Amino acid sequence: MKRDFLSIATHTPSELEAILDDAARLKADLRAGKGERPLLGKTLAMIFEKPSLRTRVTFETGIKQLGGASVYLAPGDIQLGARETVADIARNLSRWVDLIMARTFSHEAMIELAEHASVPVINGLSDLLHPCQVLADCQTLREQKGRLEGLTVAFIGDGNNVVNSWIHAASRLGIHFRVACPEGYEPNATLVAQAQKTSTASIEVFRDPAAAAADADALYTDVWTSMGQEAESQARRTAFEGYQVNSALLSKAKKDALVMHCLPAHRGEEITGEVVDGPQSVVLEQAENRLHAQKAVMVRLAGQSA
Ligand code: CP
Ligand code: NVA
Repeated sequence: MKRDFLSIATHTPSELEAILDDAARLKADLRAGKGERPLLGKTLAMIFEKPSLRTRVTFETGIKQLGGASVYLAPGDIQLGARETVADIARNLSRWVDLIMARTFSHEAMIELAEHASVPVINGLSDLLHPCQVLADCQTLREQKGRLEGLTVAFIGDGNNVVNSWIHAASRLGIHFRVACPEGYEPNATLVAQAQKTSTASIEVFRDPAAAAADADALYTDVWTSMGQEAESQARRTAFEGYQVNSALLSKAKKDALVMHCLPAHRGEEITGEVVDGPQSVVLEQAENRLHAQKAVMVRLAGQSA
């Protein structure tokens, strides 16, 4: 039975730890010049309904390093669900390729794609979730802090796809997770309630950024306006005033707190240039780890069969 990677929630804590271990090993091997090719001859189709720098380059580079190849399907190329049904696209792609990565607007389309594909589907961001990003974030935190369990991560800003996946990861890996957001911009309520029920660590929603940041091990933020929400950008700029990660807010966190951002960043909006480019920032480590974490996911999903 094929396995997908649509959400961190469908993976157990030990599976997630194993993916993070594999990612660390693949990173060390790459640095040591060891060329493992567990996906020799395999092809990855990459469907993009939205723009991308990191996701596209890391998946394309990653599959190549593992011995495989990729096909890039740009926004507009296949017009998911418009030119033909999502199910037909899934069935066709499954006849040619071994893996599908998709970046969609609707998460339902992602699920439909996976349901009708006989090959594994990886979520490269939907409006609801961004699981690959959060895997890379956890790899980064583990490298920097030597552990995950018991850490406190404070997210300041919009309760968006990155936050939803973070709640999944935190509740499975024992990370205390705080979100500070204005009213109306909370993360998915069902997902928060579920995580609070099952998590050994605390999952909390705050209004006050300073209260969320207090003594945190990492401050994380993301754009106030996600892709697809451009019409709301003016209203969002107003709503998120006071939710900026800047040096005053960083001073509330632990002295050695990390600054995290999935990128792209809007300097002067959700984060100041001084902080995102400052000494506590690990944003480029997060970006680099997208490569290693996703290679680990691809090997797990498509590496077993010959
Ligand atoms: N963080 C992230 O997913 O970046 P891209 O949108 O550039 O892929
Ligand atoms: N929340 C952002 C993440 C971009 C990587 C978006 O969905 O646009």
